[in-house]
Amino acid sequence: MTIKLQNIKKTYEKDGKKKCVLSEINYMFSENTFYVIMGKSGSGKSTLINIMAGILEFDSGEILYDNQKYVGDSMLSKLRNESIGLMYQSYLLNDNMTAIENVLLPLYLNKNMTNVQKINYVKKEFSKLKMEDKIMNFPKELSGGEQQRVALIRALINNPKIILADEPTGNLDKDNERMVFEILRQEANNGKCVVVVSHNPKIIHYADAVLYLNNGELYEK
Ligand SMILES: Nc1ncnc2c1ncn2[C@@H]1O[C@H](COP(=O)(O)OP(=O)(O)O)[C@@H](O)[C@H]1O
Ligand SMILES: [Mg+2]
Repeated sequence: MTIKLQNIKKTYEKDGKKKCVLSEINYMFSENTFYVIMGKSGSGKSTLINIMAGILEFDSGEILYDNQKYVGDSMLSKLRNESIGLMYQSYLLNDNMTAIENVLLPLYLNKNMTNVQKINYVKKEFSKLKMEDKIMNFPKELSGGEQQRVALIRALINNPKIILADEPTGNLDKDNERMVFEILRQEANNGKCVVVVSHNPKIIHYADAVLYLNNGELYEK
């Protein structure tokens, strides 16, 4: 699935003052490709990722997914649930659910698997990330890096065509960081459109395209 951003503009209003974060974003994200977006803190990276994920409104412009407009809440929520895997900067795990319950949640609407199949599938995904002994822990019983990996498993569990990750390795040690980059690389190789915000220069080695967000503009270097 491709994502085409056309003249996307976003301003925030604070204390009566308007602040333009994205001025005129035009970019086409393709399938089969691993993009990294870099930029200073406060440059609008999270804003852009959340807009692309369909969870944040923008002032003007258009987003096309596979050259199609998605309008209205039901169309957008179907897109989010079926086609977009989002890993938030702050993980946003549900504190009242165990790790495995957090990952099972997006599978809730999936009618092609029985509950037992879902549980076995999720357990297998946890073991891939060496997290099989943590499935019954609540988020507060997990380290930041472990929560980050649960958020990644959750983002990928529905096999989304678009994967968006906002600083996915901020809390990981070297080995886990490499593992996460390799998983995202593999997803792109499998045909996905992968867009990752990161400060980590090591990610460039895994990416196909490096983009910069600066002064409200997105450009390739
Ligand atoms: N809800 C909001 N209301 C007002 N300003 C915001 C809001 N969210 C973000 N901002 C401001 O917009 C700018 C971009 O934020 P963000 O997208 O989080 O940047 P980044 O992820 O690159 O650090 C920052 O200056 C931030 O303070
Ligand atoms: Mg951010």
